[in-house]
Amino acid sequence: MEHIAFIMDGNGRWAKARGLPRTEGHRAGAETVRRVLSYCRDAGIRYLTLYAFSVENWKRPKEEVETLMHLLVAYLTSEEKTFHENQVRIRYMGRKSDLPTEVREALDRVETATAAYERQLILCLSYGGRTELAHAAQAIARQVARGELDPEAITEETIARNLYLPDVPDPDLIVRTSGEMRLSNFLLWQASYAELYVTPVLWPDFGEADFQAALDAFASRERRYGALGK
Ligand code: IPE
Ligand code: IPE
Ligand code: MG
Repeated sequence: MEHIAFIMDGNGRWAKARGLPRTEGHRAGAETVRRVLSYCRDAGIRYLTLYAFSVENWKRPKEEVETLMHLLVAYLTSEEKTFHENQVRIRYMGRKSDLPTEVREALDRVETATAAYERQLILCLSYGGRTELAHAAQAIARQVARGELDPEAITEETIARNLYLPDVPDPDLIVRTSGEMRLSNFLLWQASYAELYVTPVLWPDFGEADFQAALDAFASRERRYGALGK
């Protein structure tokens, strides 16, 4: 497998079950991010995409949003050394202009510092699949308006080339923790032939055995891409 993506869900439920504020669930969830990055390294997976904050998540209470943004800066700062040790390139997907200055600066810094590495950790923050497609449509419309592109020449490749990270291959497997059977606006274009795996395990509890279970489930799938199977 080349690319695994996670919808990291269930931090709030994890905290609630312990009588803790939701923000404690997010703190515990940040630890899972550290672990999962190392599982991917050990499994030789080149791309890891994490859905950390959706465009819809801005609707949450201010205090929760602020905690999440602080945790992100803390994560990027404390892990910078690990990124270098493990030669991981940090990349960003989403509407960066929505993010507080501290988050933008931390992202810009680690993106630049790690730009030469092959393995990639892609962080989706203020990300929405529909927003990404609207953004691609704007870019394509500008090319048409400038006379650089004939509308009749627009193909799937044109759209794919105008997504946030056009060089990243589509995910092979999308894992969602905490049981919800939905994409919640994640990678709508890129997910078309991804295998989906939903586990009831809450994100802060997600461990090595759960990761292995997801890889095993993926290994047992037959990817047909609309053609006939073996
Ligand atoms: C995932 O956990 C983290 C984000 C969406 C930012 P949630 O905060 O959605 O946790 P639940 O779904 O309420 O348990
Ligand atoms: C999806 O989780 C978004 C992220 C994991 C960042 P949500 O908790 O926001 O999704 P819904 O609201 O249950 O669909
Ligand atoms: Mg949730």
